[in-house]
Amino acid sequence: MTRCRYAKPLPKGPQSPGRYSSICLQCNGAQSGLIGKFKWEAALKSDEKVRSWEITSESNYLNRRQFILDAGLAAGAGLALASLPGDLRAQGRELDTVQGPYSTDEKPNSWQDVTTYNNFYEFGTGKEDPYRNAQDFVTSPWTVTVSGECGKPGNYAYEDIVGPHTFEDRIYRHRCVEAWSMVVPWVGFPLGDLLQRFEPGSDARFVRFKTLLDPKQMPGQRRAVLRWPYVEGLTMAEAMHPLTLMVVGVYGKELPNQNGAPLRLVTPWKYGFKGIKSIVEIEFTKRQPATSWETSAPREYGFYANVNPEVSHPRWSQARERRIGSGLFAEKQPTLMFNGYEEEVADLYAGLDLRKNF
Ligand code: MTE
Repeated sequence: MTRCRYAKPLPKGPQSPGRYSSICLQCNGAQSGLIGKFKWEAALKSDEKVRSWEITSESNYLNRRQFILDAGLAAGAGLALASLPGDLRAQGRELDTVQGPYSTDEKPNSWQDVTTYNNFYEFGTGKEDPYRNAQDFVTSPWTVTVSGECGKPGNYAYEDIVGPHTFEDRIYRHRCVEAWSMVVPWVGFPLGDLLQRFEPGSDARFVRFKTLLDPKQMPGQRRAVLRWPYVEGLTMAEAMHPLTLMVVGVYGKELPNQNGAPLRLVTPWKYGFKGIKSIVEIEFTKRQPATSWETSAPREYGFYANVNPEVSHPRWSQARERRIGSGLFAEKQPTLMFNGYEEEVADLYAGLDLRKNF
C-alpha cells in the first residue's frame, strides 16, 4: 500500500497561501513519485511495520487495549472521560518513519506519561494543564519565519519545513531541570539538515528559536510567568550536532499539542527547557541570544543548560532524578553526565568551564 505523508487537506488561511491547499487533496493512497517539491512516499502499512519501541517495550506501546486501560485508570483516578485529553480520544495521524540512530534501549515511558505530564507554561504551570488546555490549539496551517545570517530567509509553511526530510524514530532520555526524567520515543529529523537548507553564513554563530505568541489561544501567556514569547537558543555547533532533533511526533504519531505541536526542538543532553515548543521563528545570529529562563532567573538557569550531576541548581541537587512512571516509592536514579550522551557531545565543550557556563 502507498500512502502520502502529507495526505491532509490544508485549510486556506493567512498562514497558508492557497498554493498549498492542493497538496495531497487527491491522495487516495495510490500515488507515488514527485509532485512539485513534495515527496510522495511508499509506506508500509502500519501493522506490517515493527517500531523500535515495540522491540524495546512492547507493553508500553499504546495499542487499543492500552488505550482502554489508560482510560479506565484515568476514570478510576477520578477523571471524567470527557476530561481526558483529546489525543487519547482521537489519536494523532500516524507518521511514516525509519529507525534513526542514537536510540537508548531503556524502556520508553507510556503514551499517558509522555502526553499528560508536561511543561508548556503557555497552557498553564500545572503538569496536567497542557493536555487539558491545549486541545483546541490550532497548529495547521503553520508558518516558520527564518531570518538573520543566512542566504535563504523567508516565511516557510510547515510543509516546506518538513517536506524534504525523512522522519526518524529516536528514543531519547529526557531530563527536566526539575529533577524528573522520562524516556521518549520521538519522531523527528536532524535540525542540522534543516538549517543547512537556509544556507547559514559565516557570521551565524548561534540560532535563536521563538514559540508562537498568541494569548488568545495560549491562556498562560495572559500571565507574566515568563516574558513571552518563549525564546531559546543554541550555538551553531550544538544546532548542527546529529543528536539535535527537530521533532514532529511521538510514538510514531503527530506531536500532540501539549508536547509542542507542530514543531519542537529536542537536545537530549540538555535540560528539557532547551526543547522549545511550537516554533514559529528561527534566526541565525552573531551574538548569543537571551533566552527565556536565563532572562527570568539568571542565577538559576544558564544558556548552556547541559545536564550535569555535579553542578547543582541553587535550590536543589542535580545528582539524582525521579523517573516518571517508576512508582511512588521507587528510588531516584543517578543522573548521568550530559544525560548519558557524554561520548557524543563532550567535545563540543572542550576547554569550557561547565560550572561557570551552566
Ligand atoms: N517550550 C515552551 N514554549 N514553553 C514551555 O513552557 N517548557 C520546557 C520545554 N519547552 C516549555 C517549552 C520544559 S521546562 C520542558 S522540561 C520541556 O519543554 C517539556 O517537554 P514535554 O512536555 O514534552 O515533556
